[in-house]
Amino acid sequence: MPKATIQIKSKSRVRNRGEVFTNTREVDNILALTQATSNRYWRFLEPACGNGNFLEAILKQRLDHLKQDRLEWHPKNREFSVLKILSTIYGVDIAEDNIAECKKRLRSVVFDYLPKKTSKEFLLAMDEILDTNLIVGDMLNGKDKIFFTEYSTPAKNLFKRKVFALTDMEAGIDKVIKEYPLVSYKELNNGK
Ligand SMILES: C[S@@+](CC[C@H](N)C(=O)[O-])C[C@H]1O[C@@H](n2cnc3c(N)ncnc32)[C@H](O)[C@@H]1O
Repeated sequence: MPKATIQIKSKSRVRNRGEVFTNTREVDNILALTQATSNRYWRFLEPACGNGNFLEAILKQRLDHLKQDRLEWHPKNREFSVLKILSTIYGVDIAEDNIAECKKRLRSVVFDYLPKKTSKEFLLAMDEILDTNLIVGDMLNGKDKIFFTEYSTPAKNLFKRKVFALTDMEAGIDKVIKEYPLVSYKELNNGK
């Protein structure tokens, strides 16, 4: 049986920020109606992600899908494949504690799928991706302070990163704010 989800942290949070989390059954039903998981590499952004109910479910579904792919799930490719999927998932929330919980939950999903020992570089890369993609921000009044890192994977084990401003993206302006050199996933954390 799925774990029950806490939907309300406090009355004041509901009043001040409309913070009511979606329960697991609704998350699954809503995702079944969308194409959020039909392509495991499509980028997905949840602009008020709370503590990650949707993002956690999407990551699980995408990793389930990945596990069926013998080449991508081969032990030699697995770490990179998991990071590739993680790098497509984005969330913003105004509450710092929600984003911290969200990171913890996604990390824990990854560990459920990769129970064996992972490389130290993998762990650093995972945290780097979680830090760039799960953002504390105000999606109504603070859009000018929100930047997204686009990860692309031009070749096996390699990541390219470009940073874009949310306000440019919304205005249809294709402007790269910052570009990082192509690096192996093992250097993602220090290749800035
Ligand atoms: C109704 S809850 C939904 C959370 C999550 N999407 C879910 O379904 O479980 C709304 C969330 O929006 C966040 N929020 C409220 N105002 C926001 C803003 N201006 N920018 C970003 N997040 C905001 C709250 O902190 C809360 O986590």
